[in-house]
Amino acid sequence: MSFVTVSNVWQAYGGRSILERVSVSVEEGEFVSIVGASGCGKSTFLRLLLADERPTRGEIRIDGGAPAQEPNPERGVVFQRYSVFPHLTVRENLIAGEGFATVLGRLRGARRRAAVERADAMLERIGLNHVADHYPAALSGGMQQRLAIGQAMTAKPRVLLLDEPFGALDPGTRVAMHEFLTELQRETRMTVFMVSHDLEEAFKLGDRVLVFDKPRRDPQDPGLFGATITYDFDARDGGIPFQNTLERYPTLAVG
Ligand SMILES: Nc1ncnc2c1ncn2[C@@H]1O[C@H](COP(=O)(O)OP(=O)(O)OP(=O)(O)O)[C@@H](O)[C@H]1O
Ligand SMILES: [Mg+2]
Repeated sequence: MSFVTVSNVWQAYGGRSILERVSVSVEEGEFVSIVGASGCGKSTFLRLLLADERPTRGEIRIDGGAPAQEPNPERGVVFQRYSVFPHLTVRENLIAGEGFATVLGRLRGARRRAAVERADAMLERIGLNHVADHYPAALSGGMQQRLAIGQAMTAKPRVLLLDEPFGALDPGTRVAMHEFLTELQRETRMTVFMVSHDLEEAFKLGDRVLVFDKPRRDPQDPGLFGATITYDFDARDGGIPFQNTLERYPTLAVG
């Protein structure tokens, strides 16, 4: 059986369909990129995987069970907005990422030293070691985003959900974060779902690229029908190059 199974999921808000008939199976360790026009329900899909919301219809199973309701170190999330704790320093934020309940003040002795060492190794990798003792408010937007990504990764979740994680980063930092994420995924074999508006990024990082789009449209009422997965590209070596995809599906460039 697949590690993540989404079966005929529908999601509606106030009687409006956002997602309809979404079905997909994902193996453990796969990197799944998600693309689609703005407002088509990509973030909604991640919230369903996170069990932040229950689908109106259909079923989601992760490792044979329903998605966990409680915050769970097995699930790491980086959303478009920064998710760092403002009252913790950069280093403390990373330590907090290891377990949602663990904060530096509660750790003692060897455990504390080991946690600090791990946090510092992560800081080095995300290029924030020089601001370890600063508070997030003192960081630029891109640095805060790197911290949020580092924090989610410190937990070494089995499923990592990323919602446009690299959008706010400059091109150089973005490439460095790509390499870091690829390395970390190889080390941990975590399963990743990443929403991106950048097709090149989606194809570069993903083993698969899922396209969310509306298969049916009502010209009188564009909001009537929901989106579903209209394409599921194999993006591993030899997969369809993203340029061709853009030519064939120009709606993807929107948003
Ligand atoms: N809790 C909610 N209540 C009502 N409507 C919602 C709710 N969450 C999302 N929506 C609506 O569902 C639609 C899809 O939103 P969603 O944020 O999932 O899109 P998206 O694909 O992530 O868009 P973007 O690319 O702009 O981030 C939007 O029309 C949004 O207004
Ligand atoms: Mg979104």
